[in-house]
Amino acid sequence: MKTIDRVPVHVSIIMDGNGRWARERGLERAAGHVEGVESVRACTEAAVECGVRYLSLYAFSEENWGRPQEEVNALMALMFKSMIEELSTFLENGIRFIVLGHRERLGDELNRTIDDCMEKTSGNTVLTLVVFLSYSGKWDILQAAKRYAREILSCPGKADELLSIDEDGFGKYLVTEGIPDPDLIIRTSGEMRLSNYLLWQGAYSEFLFSDILWPDFRKEEFRSALLSYSKRDRRYGKVK
Ligand code: FPP
Repeated sequence: MKTIDRVPVHVSIIMDGNGRWARERGLERAAGHVEGVESVRACTEAAVECGVRYLSLYAFSEENWGRPQEEVNALMALMFKSMIEELSTFLENGIRFIVLGHRERLGDELNRTIDDCMEKTSGNTVLTLVVFLSYSGKWDILQAAKRYAREILSCPGKADELLSIDEDGFGKYLVTEGIPDPDLIIRTSGEMRLSNYLLWQGAYSEFLFSDILWPDFRKEEFRSALLSYSKRDRRYGKVK
């Protein structure tokens, strides 16, 4: 197996193509999501093996609430089941599990399971696995701006100090506080758009668009994405 020279610290994936994968096989869309969980498992394992420190997954966007209720329910049930089933794997492999997004929109039972899984894995340090649930980039920036404004309003004496905030300072109001920006954002299924994902945090991410549908995106595809990243020349707008 080829060694990868420059492993990205944070790899983020827009998992796309579950529905098409199912349709190609004459199955219900939900079957594509179930198979997609196998890809989540495979990529998580590959991330640990390659030394990636943060793996984040766009599992459900704010816009996805507009899908048929049956599909929304199937997806939420799948998240719930996966968290319960994977907790022991997270604990055995040193994986810290985090869910970020508009948590108020998730049900109480799912939120309790998320809290439990986050708390039990909070001391793990091998890999941080972030699942974005009910997340969108614009929502994140707006909630950050509201929290920032509320802080200014509640401490008028500190207004000048608070208003001297810089980009790193504002970044602390985003739900991703403490998590490094993604070095590499992968999107599967041949679609080439960001779909309201990590708009602030992805400012200087490298992008990799793969034609492979998410349920077929496994360890080999993950490793090959990392190899492609290792050949990129990142200049951050400067000249080398
Ligand atoms: C996009 O495919 C996929 C999703 C909206 C859901 C992804 C969720 C999972 C793989 C479930 C489990 C996740 C975790 C973290 C346990 P699509 O339905 O938009 O496919 P299409 O574009 O082909 O219709």
